Amino acid sequence: MGTIQYNNIIEGEEARVAQAAADLAPSLLADEIDARKFYVTQHYHKYTQEDHRVWRDLFTRRMGVLEEQVSRTFIDGLAVLRLSADRLPLLCDTTLLGDCIMADGTVLREGTRLEGINRYLGEFSDWSSFGVPGYLPAKSFFACLAQRQFPTTVLIRPRSVMDYLPEPDIFHDVFGHVPLHASRVFADFLQTYGRAALLCEDDHHIKRLSRLFWFTVEFGLIREEGRVKVYGSGLVSSHSESAYSLRGQWASEGKEAEEKTAREVAEWRPFDLDRVCETDFEIDHFQPIYYVLESFEQLRDAMSKYAEQVVGSSRLKAITV
Ligand SMILES: [Fe+2]
Repeated sequence: MGTIQYNNIIEGEEARVAQAAADLAPSLLADEIDARKFYVTQHYHKYTQEDHRVWRDLFTRRMGVLEEQVSRTFIDGLAVLRLSADRLPLLCDTTLLGDCIMADGTVLREGTRLEGINRYLGEFSDWSSFGVPGYLPAKSFFACLAQRQFPTTVLIRPRSVMDYLPEPDIFHDVFGHVPLHASRVFADFLQTYGRAALLCEDDHHIKRLSRLFWFTVEFGLIREEGRVKVYGSGLVSSHSESAYSLRGQWASEGKEAEEKTAREVAEWRPFDLDRVCETDFEIDHFQPIYYVLESFEQLRDAMSKYAEQVVGSSRLKAITV
């Protein structure tokens, strides 16, 4: 696949300065990192009608199967954000600097005041989302989470890669990740994760933490009222892998398939933090293994325990970011 051509809505100089700050942050002490320096303005009027249409088509397709496939906690969080099919999500309140043509052709005039999702999200969990210029180094990403802020891609994929995108875009980040930030239990888990990962200086634990992120935040499943549902953003935002993951079968003792291979039917394993942290993952095909939570409290509590183990309770409490 060649380079994906996005419609860029970010201002070049602002992006350059923000990226430089994010690239520099790993050389700083945890307390010295100010994640606000990594963020860029979402120039909302620069989205084209086609951008809004791509969003609408992705959004509508996933909304059609939400009740059947997706966690109740996630669906409740989605309602908090008041996302709409007509236009891309706005993160922070803004006044339009130019006319904006929505998916259905409706025009929002320059000067129109719009409310962003952070206005609604803040009331529920004190989390917020901010645009970033591109990939952040791991430590910079963790610093954002530690401050209850989610670094968010604000570009939307072009229609030519509607079904498979090897990198995050605003659909993956806002539709896929942000709804769970409205759940205080999940939000607390994610902040604890960020703090632990930010303070951790042991490569062995950093590797384990990246696996934990992968098998929960990105590709996690949860059992609700006897049925397995998706909550990981990589599944919520992927029409095909979401359906595939839900066809999984519970691992039967002593008969687990080889790890790290694509399969016809995925293996569901009960969530166990230590086991998750020891499981390798691959990024270029559907996951052969998914871990299934019993509740988000289970994830939060396991993470709190692990964070204390990794960085110590006194350091964890002392961190002010
Ligand atoms: Fe993600």
